[in-house]
Amino acid sequence: MTAPTASVATPDDWPEVVALRTRVFVEEQGVPPEIEQDDRDAGAVHVRARDDAGRVVATGRLLLPPEGSTTASLGRMAADASVRGRGFGAAVLAELHRQAVLRGATAVELHAQVTARRFYERAGYTAVGEEYVEAGIRHVTMRRALP
Ligand SMILES: CC(C)(COP(=O)(O)OP(=O)(O)OC[C@H]1O[C@@H](n2cnc3c(N)ncnc32)[C@H](O)[C@@H]1OP(=O)(O)O)[C@@H](O)C(=O)NCCC(=O)NCCS
Repeated sequence: MTAPTASVATPDDWPEVVALRTRVFVEEQGVPPEIEQDDRDAGAVHVRARDDAGRVVATGRLLLPPEGSTTASLGRMAADASVRGRGFGAAVLAELHRQAVLRGATAVELHAQVTARRFYERAGYTAVGEEYVEAGIRHVTMRRALP
């Protein structure tokens, strides 16, 4: 297997990105589809990774810092259940960080599902504050500086 790499999604990738997010968040985790896709998708930078067979198997999105801030937000991180633990999620996260730096961000924040907390800690994130429930799932805010 080649080492996972990730790049910015093109419009051609979008149907596969949506299908992956639907499999993971709607079908696997029970998130309502009307919440899963939202109006922030249009302005976000989407990243995707393909496996050796060419399938889109991991994705995530970057929301640029609001006016007056240099903290970007990440979200909708998903790896297909069949490839978890093989580095696809980490490759997407690294590319999202790279894209954030290219756009002038100095830090990144996200709402981590508590089951994914270790994944983000491995990538340099620290939890901020208490856990809370969002879309019926326990989350914690996590943050890291960008180089
Ligand atoms: C979270 C998720 C995106 C991780 O993707 P992945 O491709 O499995 O992650 P990777 O293989 O790149 O893992 C990178 C590192 O994090 C660790 N890791 C990944 N998921 C983990 C988890 N749930 N718990 C503990 N450690 C985890 C891996 O062991 C690996 O550690 P290493 O650097 O020591 O080898 C994937 O599990 C997923 O889609 N989960 C369901 C949706 C979800 O929870 N999304 C997060 C929303 S906040």
